[in-house]
Amino acid sequence: THQWRGVIEEYRQLLEIPEGTPAVTLREGGTPLVHSEWLSGLTRAEVWLKVEGDNPTGSFKDRGMTAAISVARHDGAEAVVCASTGNTSASMAAYAAKAGLKPLVLVPEGKIAAGKMAQAIVHGAQVIMVRGNFDDCLGIAKGLAWDFPVALVNSVNPVRLEGQKTAAFEIVDFLGDAPDFHLLPVGNAGNISAYWLGYTQYADLGLATRKPVMRGFQAEGAAPLVTGEPFPDPETKATAIRIGNPASWKLAEAARDESGGRFAAVSDDQILAAQRDLASHDGVFVEPASAAGIAGLLQELAAGESYAGSTVVVTVTGHGLKDTATALEGFAAAGGSIVDTVVDADVASAARAAG
Ligand code: F0G
Repeated sequence: THQWRGVIEEYRQLLEIPEGTPAVTLREGGTPLVHSEWLSGLTRAEVWLKVEGDNPTGSFKDRGMTAAISVARHDGAEAVVCASTGNTSASMAAYAAKAGLKPLVLVPEGKIAAGKMAQAIVHGAQVIMVRGNFDDCLGIAKGLAWDFPVALVNSVNPVRLEGQKTAAFEIVDFLGDAPDFHLLPVGNAGNISAYWLGYTQYADLGLATRKPVMRGFQAEGAAPLVTGEPFPDPETKATAIRIGNPASWKLAEAARDESGGRFAAVSDDQILAAQRDLASHDGVFVEPASAAGIAGLLQELAAGESYAGSTVVVTVTGHGLKDTATALEGFAAAGGSIVDTVVDADVASAARAAG
């Protein structure tokens, strides 16, 4: 028996990566598809969670990063740069460390979850905080990559999408065909574009008989793909998707149109409620942004949309431990008590307190 080799070695012949590029891998991908009894019951469909928080740095970004960093190193790069709302920078820092490249990270000041910031720092990235939002950071990252010998590894780098599309391959490999519907959160719109690439490639190769309807969910305060206009001041507690002008706008619209899908917005309260419900019903703790697809599914059910009889995959993009502060704030705001009981160190006291 051998262990999962990471997405490049598992799928190399299906990826547009220059031949002979050695893989820089942390054995990303191969993530579980977890059946949700809770959501399957509510929808009378088979609902599966693609749990991307199980990747090495805790988000789906590792799939694209193994590809981008492998190619950057093979091309002779010595330094890499990205703009990030947190997960891309955590992932880039880890893969750059593994590859021996120097990581430079641009993040919006004060809007990065503590876990993600810690990852970038501890993996050895130089972190620059920008007085601005993600969209500003991406503009600066592009400018630095243009002016200086540093490789840009944001998803505007097409190699990133090559890695990320492997999530669609894994889903079809496991289910035996593509699902009827695929729901996921959308921020910079690279991931929905990558899934669509993957599903389309498998269908073209005859490895799937169909392609799913793609439904992407954005936070109400950062929903440019829903309104059709950039958001100059995006705002949401789901900081991972606090993005006003997605780089893969066109590709994401093509995924929507070719699949007969749509984009919709969900509120922060819906997102945080979905995060708690997923954790308490299914045992899967995801970060706020990652719950946007679940919030979207619940919103559609409430509006009378039917998924009955179909197969549905919802990608949950990142781990709940990335941002415990927001999760606990949401929990408290919804009337939950955090730690309300302190007792003396004996069984009787604990039993009395537990009721
Ligand atoms: N979910 C999480 C947890 C994310 O970190 C992101 C994006 C998304 C969803 C949205 O994916 O951008 O491909 O549409 N995070 C990027 C970052 C922007 O910098 O970590 P997308």
